[in-house]
Amino acid sequence: MALKITVIGTGYLGATHAAAMAELGFEVLGLDVVPEKIEMLQRGEVPMYEPGLEELLRRHVAGIEGSSGRLRFTTSYEEAGAFGDVHFICVNTPQKHGEYACDMSYVESAFDALAPHLTRPALVVGKSTVPVGSAARLAERLAAAAPAGAAVELAWNPEFLREGFAVQDTLHPDRIVVGVAGERGEELLREVYATPLAEGSPFIVMDYPTSELVKTSANSFLATKISFINAMAEVCEAADGDVVKLAEAIGHDERIGKKYLRAGIGFGGGCLPKDLRAFMARAGELGADQALTFLREIDSINMRRRGHMVELTREALGGGGFLGKRVAVLGATFKPDSDDVRDSPALNVAGQIHLQGGQVTVYDPKGMENARRVFPTLSYAETALEAVRGADVVLHLTEWREFRELDPAVLGDVVAERRILDGRNALDAALWRKAGWTYRALGRPSA
Ligand code: UDX
Repeated sequence: MALKITVIGTGYLGATHAAAMAELGFEVLGLDVVPEKIEMLQRGEVPMYEPGLEELLRRHVAGIEGSSGRLRFTTSYEEAGAFGDVHFICVNTPQKHGEYACDMSYVESAFDALAPHLTRPALVVGKSTVPVGSAARLAERLAAAAPAGAAVELAWNPEFLREGFAVQDTLHPDRIVVGVAGERGEELLREVYATPLAEGSPFIVMDYPTSELVKTSANSFLATKISFINAMAEVCEAADGDVVKLAEAIGHDERIGKKYLRAGIGFGGGCLPKDLRAFMARAGELGADQALTFLREIDSINMRRRGHMVELTREALGGGGFLGKRVAVLGATFKPDSDDVRDSPALNVAGQIHLQGGQVTVYDPKGMENARRVFPTLSYAETALEAVRGADVVLHLTEWREFRELDPAVLGDVVAERRILDGRNALDAALWRKAGWTYRALGRPSA
């Protein structure tokens, strides 16, 4: 009989995973402790913006006309325990307040709530990003609390999905990493992932600690690449070089590669920044902190970008204060094709300028609602054109396609000054300059 799957936690990761599992043909039960989220999902609505996810969900949620009916939702752990053969834990692991370490409380409560309902053989699969050593500890906790005892196994199966590409990354993963302690975990996960495996996704089996480390080291490597190119941007600015050309040129070396070398205001989001910090904190606990001291530098290069953007804006406005100056900010999310503003460099820059007295107006294609919630004191405009009206300077801080398609001549008619700073190196400099704008970008010559 086909496996029945539960997905615990229905955020970016869980909602996508649940819909993807239904797409792969399984009966799926999604669980969240927030009833409003469950009600939305039951109506086939996604609580966040993720391209393609709502369509995928509506194809499977029971009760929606024409759906496969394979996907249902609940808030009951009892129901989840009775239903599932495989339980995916997809709750988030944010940064602890006032500390670098990762807050494991959601993971721990999910395990504690599920375990007493595991009365028959089952596989629990952790997907959340956790400090190395967590899986081994959670396996013991599970064995002690589950009525089925040793018939309940734990596997760790980190997730590498990128927001904006979550559906694609989940259905067609570039690798499937599985940390196990026994053979059954591996067998069941081969069954779960049979479709992507048949498509050729590599399946890499290892022990728990290695699987936990794969995730944090992959994110650290990506962050290092971004901060590397941003460090080069700093040097380029000092030496009158062009970081975009530099990245293009070094990227042709296959060993280096072109990806993740886009210089700008740096990385943000719900993963890279907090994962780096949690990794450093955990290495410290293990007595291996020296191995990761370089990550502190990666983090500080990244945070420096935001301050640098604020200073460039000040310079563009003549070098004085921001009081009485109108600043238009295009972009609020941490990256395009997402509505996520968690640790967003764009919103951070907007906030800093606002706090220094600038009159900041923000526009973002999808992130307005979330941005308003985090930063209610900023002004928000309904369109890019409205945002730039009367602006003394325009900041391009998230590289949405919509912004690349803006007509500099049309915008030029409504701003107070034709000055634009490109914090993402994504606009066509020649086009803006031709339309009479002073265009400046990070790490590039000013004229
Ligand atoms: C990341 C990892 O890519 C993913 O594998 C992991 O599962 C979760 O964390 P995500 O947070 O969705 O995914 O964003 P990603 O596309 O990696 O971008 C992160 C940040 O880096 C964004 O703020 C983006 O603007 C920035 N970035 C990315 C750059 O500044 N330059 C680049 O060249 C690439």
